[in-house]
Amino acid sequence: MSALFQPFSLKEITLRNRIAVPPMCQYMAVDGQANDWHLSHYAGMARGGAGLVIVEATAVAPEGRITPGCTGIWNDDLAQAFVPVVKAIKAAGSVPGIQIAHAGRKASANRPWEGDDHIVEGDARGWQTIAPSAIAFGGGLPKVPRAMDLDDIARVQQNFVDAAVRAREVGFEWLELHFAHGYLAQSFFSAHSNQRDDIYGGSVENRSRFLLETLKAVRAVWPEHLPLTIRFGVLEFDGRDEQTLLESIGLVRQFKEAGMDMLSVSMGFTIPDVSIPWGPAFMGPIAERVRREAGVPVSSAWGFGTPAIAERVVKEEQLDVVMVGKAHLANPHWAYFAAKELGVERASWVMPAPYAHWLERY
Ligand SMILES: Cc1cc2nc3c(=O)[nH]c(=O)nc-3n(C[C@H](O)[C@H](O)[C@H](O)COP(=O)(O)O)c2cc1C
Repeated sequence: MSALFQPFSLKEITLRNRIAVPPMCQYMAVDGQANDWHLSHYAGMARGGAGLVIVEATAVAPEGRITPGCTGIWNDDLAQAFVPVVKAIKAAGSVPGIQIAHAGRKASANRPWEGDDHIVEGDARGWQTIAPSAIAFGGGLPKVPRAMDLDDIARVQQNFVDAAVRAREVGFEWLELHFAHGYLAQSFFSAHSNQRDDIYGGSVENRSRFLLETLKAVRAVWPEHLPLTIRFGVLEFDGRDEQTLLESIGLVRQFKEAGMDMLSVSMGFTIPDVSIPWGPAFMGPIAERVRREAGVPVSSAWGFGTPAIAERVVKEEQLDVVMVGKAHLANPHWAYFAAKELGVERASWVMPAPYAHWLERY
């Protein structure tokens, strides 16, 4: 019996299998608004059979978008644009999730296929970025952010809360806070990017404060019966990984106490020059350690998009849910093909009837 195709329950939500489409920016929004591209994209992913579809990093404030093409949820009109997306994901039997985000000093960038670098100074498409300290990321993202004052911090935290309320109002059932990948929250946690000398910087306790406060404020408005998850970079591959991992696991335990239901284990991406040991399932053992030592359910991404690998990491209890990203871009029906390959009886059950009826028949 396949482990990957066992249902998974978190709070009052049950996923039909352990396969999730992780958040993947489409860079196709106009002024933050989701459109037909997003509807067809997410509907397609859900029809393919994944148990969970998490809508891309969606900015809680205009300056929190990575690029001018990123989706936003900083007002009610933007939230309403997700209604058809939510309905389509649910109609296909999947669970609609959304990742809410603030890109911090990595914001105001060109789309990946248009440079993936900061929009140059003086170009009206760009904007002032903000971050814990006035330190640029470097590499192709040289723009120096403005260091946030306490009002900025309180405002962005409120932006996260308002975004969570709107996400619920339009029907999302799974909320993920983007605390990873060198964006705003991750850059508070990392001493590479946070050199503040107030209560939000310095000790690990202080560097954790923005993340924990934001989680607690969101948990207070996000319904108790629905999953609230966090994507967090637990290490940087910068040569001091054991220490970072220990600090991270300590923080994940506090996330759990503060009401986080599951961690999506990822990397920090806080500095440009790191040596990441890319390879199939390379995050599996790291996620398993976080799962065991922090005592939380975990998901992870990066190189799990082969059915046998996805099956193995669930069977070996490294991951509770497997994020399959690029393999879904290549084949939105990845879950169906994984079911076939793993010999799941009636593989077609992961699909809606207009597909499943025929796939079962011939
Ligand atoms: C086009 C694209 C957009 C992405 N956007 C996001 C995002 O919005 N939020 C996020 O946390 N990760 C994002 N990621 C990372 C993916 O969620 C995932 O971790 C990555 O693709 C590795 O998984 P894979 O090997 O299965 O593709 C993105 C990746 C891709 C390819």
